[in-house]
Amino acid sequence: MNRAELESIASRMAAKGKGILAADESTGTVAKRFEAIGLEGTEETRRSYREMLFTAPGLSDYISGVILYDETLRQKTKDGEPFPVYLTRVGILPGIKVDTGAKPLAGFPGETITEGLDGLRGRLAEYYQLGARFAKWRAVITIGPATPTQFAIEANAHALARYAALCQEANVVPIVEPEVLLDGEHTIERCEEVTGEVLSTVFRQLHSHRVHLEGMILKPSMVIAGKKCPNQASAQQVAEATVRTLKRYVPSAVPGIAFLSGGQTPAQATEHLNLMSQMGPFPWELTFSYARALQEEALRAWGGKPEGFAAGQKAFLRRAKLVALARSGNYNPQQEQEAA
Ligand code: 13P
Repeated sequence: MNRAELESIASRMAAKGKGILAADESTGTVAKRFEAIGLEGTEETRRSYREMLFTAPGLSDYISGVILYDETLRQKTKDGEPFPVYLTRVGILPGIKVDTGAKPLAGFPGETITEGLDGLRGRLAEYYQLGARFAKWRAVITIGPATPTQFAIEANAHALARYAALCQEANVVPIVEPEVLLDGEHTIERCEEVTGEVLSTVFRQLHSHRVHLEGMILKPSMVIAGKKCPNQASAQQVAEATVRTLKRYVPSAVPGIAFLSGGQTPAQATEHLNLMSQMGPFPWELTFSYARALQEEALRAWGGKPEGFAAGQKAFLRRAKLVALARSGNYNPQQEQEAA
């Protein structure tokens, strides 16, 4: 483990004024997203969609790193340049999703355990060769009447920590992502309680596994009421509860906290981040690692057609700019009305 290299990559990922684009949707998830615009997911449609995003002019003004999927890491621009090589050349760090998905946890109905540890050491060595400098692993925690169980939290935190230790051994910065799902009827108070328990368990496991906290990025969900909760919290309440929870449970040695968007609308995910940024400074950088909130508008504007390429890039850059402004606390919700 080269601690200096890990720290330097982690701090570039959390660079001021920028954030991370999560574009690591699995083939199945891309198919679902494409279905919404009536497009079939093929290796070529996935490639051209990602090319539209990555080659948006000036993207590195707003984006410090991009999380790729295994297939994408091996794909090329239409000019024949491998995506990780292209991204590195324009000043964006390539990363790689290395988990193989959340699967049902045997004996625990409604809960999942994330898989992908077998053979991970070998895969990380290859990914590093291909240019990846950071990785992502997503654990999923579901809030329901009888969940999450302490066992499921513990099992997922243990897997996250084993993953993080293997990444650092390979000089790859781990993004540690324990996502508490937005689905459900739970209140914001219940989400705060669960998120606190999850973060406290995750950091205990990271310590036990001797993970170098200065060389990792935490990717949490925001503290927010369940989608079906009749009592939706205000944006200010979400920001306050999230910051309070992070201050309680995230050690100040962690250089960056990059939120996932989790099914919030682009405008919500932007506004929440903006309000939190305005509550700083914090011991860590507070930033974003959105997939849906950054891509939703771009996907629709692109529409899967070659003639939609420029419109897709324009919509994508507009949202990337707004979220980057929010990351510095300089976003104004009125900007939602303005075009790119
Ligand atoms: P969303 O921002 O769409 O939640 O995705 C982030 C991510 O990378 C989930 O693993």
